[in-house]
Amino acid sequence: MIVRTRLGRVGFDDAGAGAAVVLLHGFPHDRTLWTPQLRSPAAGARYLAPDLPGFGESDRLADPSLDTWADGVIALLDTLGVERAIIGGLSMGGYLALACWRRHPIRIAGLVLADSRAGADTPEARDRRVEMQAVARAQGAGAIAERMAPGMTGKTTRETRPEVTATLDTMMRRATPDALVDALQVLRDRPDATPSLPTITVPTLILCGDEDALTPVAESRAMHEAIPGSRLEVLRGAGHVSNVEAPSAFNRLLSAFVTATIRSGQT
Ligand code: MLT
Repeated sequence: MIVRTRLGRVGFDDAGAGAAVVLLHGFPHDRTLWTPQLRSPAAGARYLAPDLPGFGESDRLADPSLDTWADGVIALLDTLGVERAIIGGLSMGGYLALACWRRHPIRIAGLVLADSRAGADTPEARDRRVEMQAVARAQGAGAIAERMAPGMTGKTTRETRPEVTATLDTMMRRATPDALVDALQVLRDRPDATPSLPTITVPTLILCGDEDALTPVAESRAMHEAIPGSRLEVLRGAGHVSNVEAPSAFNRLLSAFVTATIRSGQT
């Protein structure tokens, strides 16, 4: 489905009915990352998985930054008439979920941070983003997919579930060079979200694959220690895209969290 918001068109998938749960994909994915979750939304919840700006069927945003992208998430909620939502994100989507909290806390009923981190890029990481932008411009999504693939899934998935790595490879190759360049700018320039973690007052679930090499469990543990009352769950045999690599465990934990958050009256 595509809607026109005040910040441009947004493509999204939609499943279930009830309290809104927005799921934000990572880099360089699109909304289909969340297909395993949209197959079984929690009772009483409506899962919304948008393409982030420039990806899939969504328009690019002028002046790409975590702030403008967070405003884009809220513009989608406004267009859909959603007052408050649980915002979940994987990796880059988690950075964006934290930016939504920083800019629009009143709209957030809960947070789900999967395989993500709070810190900003180091100077070396920023240099790598610039190099990746040049690769995206010169060689396109295939070259970026090849660079990202080794860290995207865990050892268990790579050895036992080739269909998962194939699906991700196809997804990553769909991105346009413009989307990749914009997202790399957003990633490179994102602020350190660490100071905002103790300000989080909504229920927060932190998930991480125990084989995640891109955002290791230590990053999730640090967020867990800084976010009051948060819950940390480590998914065994899963790497960086734990929602795809361990969908049953991920869905069980997500559903329980969503149900508890709805019952607490936050949504
Ligand atoms: C992602 O999966 O979104 C990326 O690994 C995030 C990043 O490169 O920082």
